[in-house]
Amino acid sequence: MIKLHEPFISGNEWKYIKNCLDEGWVSSAGKYVDLFEKKITKYTGAKHAVACINGTSALQISLRLVGVGTNDEVIVPSMTFISPVNAINYNNAKPIFMDNDDYYTIDVNKTIEFLNKKTRTILRKKIPITINKKTGNHIVALIVVHLFGNATKLDKLIDLCRTKNISIIEDAAESIGTFYKSGRFRNKHTGTVGKIGCLSFNGNKIITAGGGGMILTNNLKIAKKAKYLTTQAKDDPINYVHNDIGYNFRLSNIQAALGLAQLESLPEYIRKKKIIHEIYRNKIDKIKGLRISRTSHFSKCNYWLNIIEIDKKLSKKDFLKKIQYLYNNGIEARPLWYPNHLQKKYKKCQTYKLHNVKKIYQSRLCLPSSSQLTKKQQDFICQKLNNIF
Ligand SMILES: Cc1ncc(COP(=O)(O)O)c(C=O)c1O
Repeated sequence: MIKLHEPFISGNEWKYIKNCLDEGWVSSAGKYVDLFEKKITKYTGAKHAVACINGTSALQISLRLVGVGTNDEVIVPSMTFISPVNAINYNNAKPIFMDNDDYYTIDVNKTIEFLNKKTRTILRKKIPITINKKTGNHIVALIVVHLFGNATKLDKLIDLCRTKNISIIEDAAESIGTFYKSGRFRNKHTGTVGKIGCLSFNGNKIITAGGGGMILTNNLKIAKKAKYLTTQAKDDPINYVHNDIGYNFRLSNIQAALGLAQLESLPEYIRKKKIIHEIYRNKIDKIKGLRISRTSHFSKCNYWLNIIEIDKKLSKKDFLKKIQYLYNNGIEARPLWYPNHLQKKYKKCQTYKLHNVKKIYQSRLCLPSSSQLTKKQQDFICQKLNNIF
């Protein structure tokens, strides 16, 4: 089976993990956790990085760090892996679902329109608070998701959110290696522009720690609190005094060792993935009715996953049949995620003009995109696509 995305082990992974085992540092303490955090700050340019057990826990903690609590609301795109939406729920808050644009990131113009028309900002104890006119609840944060490695354009949103005192959390789970190329945030890594950014090192990401996440921030106070909360909120480690409710979310040394080795290979993986993207573009754009999704002109993408845009409207049955055909031929291709505003637990949540989500769902297909994908495999995939479209 040609997998959608699988890990590529090509560097110091064995060496670093062996070192953990040899020295006995296998759990949440050890040099690799600190080293991994340090190397992530160097690579991304974030001032601080705090390692977590996964990207979901990084998001959960980040929302708590910006003050999201019971009955608060958080704006999030409907089309994303469900993790950021669940993270809102873990904090007893509610999502407001926003549309996605053609690069699959949150529709910035609609978000701005929503904030201008559907919210009002008041002063409470001299601090601006933004209220959702419909529910009367406090909108505390906005999660932007740099989906498939595509950066969200934050130039305008960031100012509006600042005046409305809404914290921007960047879900950069899929976008390690993506930098802004132009605009106000030129040369900045995704996840380092908003108040907090979150990375994931899940097995299906461009680099993996077997599982893992990272909180990025330029704010020392936030970083310290992130470390405190992810390590059980321990105030006195001898007498086990905990003055807050923390979590056991610290990454293990073995995972960090794997992540560190993978990080060393990241530039090489991105170089390979750019070539994979170009091959797909060349071949698939020639198949009538198909096109490979473009990356945005304002960012340097990591090309995590390649997506096909299908021109004609397919019935659900027809769409699934094509996926099954590919699967039967040893190709793992997947549809985009089921839109979150339609998920059973989120059906009743507020939505705003979700026109594009409906369009892109069921007319997009994610293609195998691992760094080690060969030209021969790509030729085979394209030939099979040609047979069914
Ligand atoms: C957009 C997005 N956000 C968050 C996550 C959660 O990361 P993790 O699986 O490490 O919890 C993922 C993927 O796994 C993701 O794709």
